[in-house]
Amino acid sequence: KPLERKLKDRMKKQMELPIYQLLLHIGEKADEIGVNAYIIGGVVRDLVIGYPNEDIDIVIEGDGIQFANLLAEQYGGTVRGHEKFGTATWKLPNECLLETMCRPGLKIDITTARREYYDYPAALPNVERSTLREDLFRRDFTINAMAIQINKKNFGMLIDYFHGSKDIKEKKIKVLYNLSFVEDPTRILRAVRFEKRFGYAMDKQTRDLAINSVDKISSVSEVRISNELRMLFNEQHPIESIQRLSELGAWEYIIGEGVITKDKIHQLQTFKDLCYAYHTKKIANSIFRSHNSRDSRAWIGYFVILFHELDNGHERLVKYALNNEDLEVVDQFVVLLNHQELLDAIRAEIPTMGMLHKFLKEYRYESIVIMIALLDHLSERLSERIIEYLMKREQIPQYINGETLKVMGLKPSPMYAKLFSDLELACIDGNIKSKEDALRWVEQYIKKQ
Ligand code: CTP
Repeated sequence: KPLERKLKDRMKKQMELPIYQLLLHIGEKADEIGVNAYIIGGVVRDLVIGYPNEDIDIVIEGDGIQFANLLAEQYGGTVRGHEKFGTATWKLPNECLLETMCRPGLKIDITTARREYYDYPAALPNVERSTLREDLFRRDFTINAMAIQINKKNFGMLIDYFHGSKDIKEKKIKVLYNLSFVEDPTRILRAVRFEKRFGYAMDKQTRDLAINSVDKISSVSEVRISNELRMLFNEQHPIESIQRLSELGAWEYIIGEGVITKDKIHQLQTFKDLCYAYHTKKIANSIFRSHNSRDSRAWIGYFVILFHELDNGHERLVKYALNNEDLEVVDQFVVLLNHQELLDAIRAEIPTMGMLHKFLKEYRYESIVIMIALLDHLSERLSERIIEYLMKREQIPQYINGETLKVMGLKPSPMYAKLFSDLELACIDGNIKSKEDALRWVEQYIKKQ
């Protein structure tokens, strides 16, 4: 079967039906106004490989923002455009006017085919309108520089000027031009991400270019680096990626130390094992969500473990944190590692669930798992127990609320908070298993007080 035919079939089979239908509609709309429209980038790469991908990027050889507005006029939803970059995000309405419902809140990026040029290395690019070929040429790797046309006549036609599909067959990551890593040094991290995700390897020229440009990483902003690290560490092979970045000499320019010690790798591995061992069990917190999920919180563990012992480690972690949740973790794990009362208690005996709750209830899951990974000589039994506690903590039943207490004759007062906290301890310790148990417990509690 020619690849075109195969790709059309794959699009139909692999994509959610409403998205496939939406692409047909978008293609027809593009025909109406006489412009070429393509899906492009990661989604095309993944269609060629046969790998799932739900992020649709569309490129128009014409005005992308105007086209997005036309689509919103016909199908509803809202458009946010960035004139300067010729890009628009079309957020589809929840009640989509298509045959089948789209995922609520679905967003599609629609952009004008563009060329980018940089005023200086690692700067944000300037952009100007161009052909599809130029748009593809400015991209990172050949495997990401393919497009599939969606106009009706050519729906499913692969456009592969730079032989991305051949490189997919040969499992190669190749840049399109020599200055690629110099212009955007984050691409070195991306190259490693794709290598490890797909089991591919950079070809010699690309690897040499990466090694020659690693020093440019130090000119990239902390936020961009953290975002890349977040994506890298949330993939399935974070430790292999960390080692690969060592081989390329990249850590020197990220953390200021080129060598990742054996001890560090051991801590990272312990952290990974903890996340993996439990993500299959019923624990919902996103640190245990299977890696390779964008919203996993696992990345923060690798990040903290790599950074925390560096000079000014804490300040650097604060600088690289992406949001308040990250900041909390960055502060909390240090407190936990130095929490003498907790450490004495857990080392002296196998703690009850209630005891763990007393010490740990204010701390985030990520901070606690990082603590387990960093504490030397913590027995397997004890770390399992702490994870078991985290599992329990996710499911503390709420048998009683303020209303119930009022009905029981207890006037609202600061005692409510103390009672709820003690009740929680009793629940997590397994002493309360039903609403009746809880009511009895409250009665006795009131009497005692
Ligand atoms: N891109 C690039 N250089 C970058 C980032 C992105 O050339 N530094 C291009 C690539 O063509 C990429 C596309 O922009 O395919 C979309 O970027 P992004 O959504 O970040 O990546 P995906 O390839 O879709 O990767 P993933 O599967 O991890 O989402």
